[in-house]
Amino acid sequence: MPLVTTKEMFKKAYEGKYAIGAFNANNVDTIKAILAAAEEVKSPVIIALSSGALSFVGEEYIPGVVEVLKKATVPVALHLDHGKKVELCKRCVDLGFTSVMIDASSEEFNKNIEITKEVVDYAHAHGVVVESELGAIAGIEEDVQVDDKYGHFTHPDDVVEFATKTGIDSLAIAIGTAHGAYKFKPGTKPQLRFDILEECEQKLPGFPLVLHGSSSVPKSSLDLLNQYGGKMPEAIGIPEPMLNEASKHAVCKINVGTDLQVAYTGAVRKSLAEHPENPDMRKFSQAGMDAIKALVEDKMKNVFCSAGKAE
Ligand code: 13P
Repeated sequence: MPLVTTKEMFKKAYEGKYAIGAFNANNVDTIKAILAAAEEVKSPVIIALSSGALSFVGEEYIPGVVEVLKKATVPVALHLDHGKKVELCKRCVDLGFTSVMIDASSEEFNKNIEITKEVVDYAHAHGVVVESELGAIAGIEEDVQVDDKYGHFTHPDDVVEFATKTGIDSLAIAIGTAHGAYKFKPGTKPQLRFDILEECEQKLPGFPLVLHGSSSVPKSSLDLLNQYGGKMPEAIGIPEPMLNEASKHAVCKINVGTDLQVAYTGAVRKSLAEHPENPDMRKFSQAGMDAIKALVEDKMKNVFCSAGKAE
């Protein structure tokens, strides 16, 4: 199964009313664990690297990653997450990514269109698909900083003009999800604006929408992390039933990064605490990878419902 774009994946997901997980990887361990999960449950998958993750892995290692992903037994897309610069998006196209996100959502509408269009023209000429963002997804992730006080949700009246003028292949919308582990104030009830999602869906029938900031921060992962010395007592994520509901709408791609970090770090902390005599780094790394694999399999089977869809 070759490394693919998300085009066919999204078409099937839209029609089949499920979603594809885009899991943020930060190193080769994470990539291996995500891929192993997808192969285990026979799910298509998107491996996402942010600009920070790309620098951490090292761009010079990407051609090797691309070669490995080409041998996967399930459809895999390699995606640039939150490309803030046109040049970075173009470089990722040249490196073998099959999907790039240009995030010019902090620019005003027409500038966002202009920047996005430049990436689309380049990517499409090289057979690569493009995601862009309208509205602002609250929270802080690496260099993505948004003032979340005013709730800059996507305006459904903008989506048709934006998609038509840019030629994008998928659109990230803001409906109340947020990056990071602290998505809602302690004591408040998590809520998403499904009314906005439905309006966007009606305006752009058949068009794949994307949800960022969709970690659920499961209690079991959080408890493990905190039990072994972590200090994240009040993290609150997006409840899984809401993500499942979104996947039945036009949401074809759901981004998850924080959940992988919490699961990995909790398992590593436990392994280190339980084996103080063992300095072999493969031992705790493997524990972290196993935790990521279990988490990704669970999302694919029980939340996004993409398991078994890798024909
Ligand atoms: P989380 O922080 O909720 O995992 O979101 C990740 C994401 O949206 C990456 O773009």
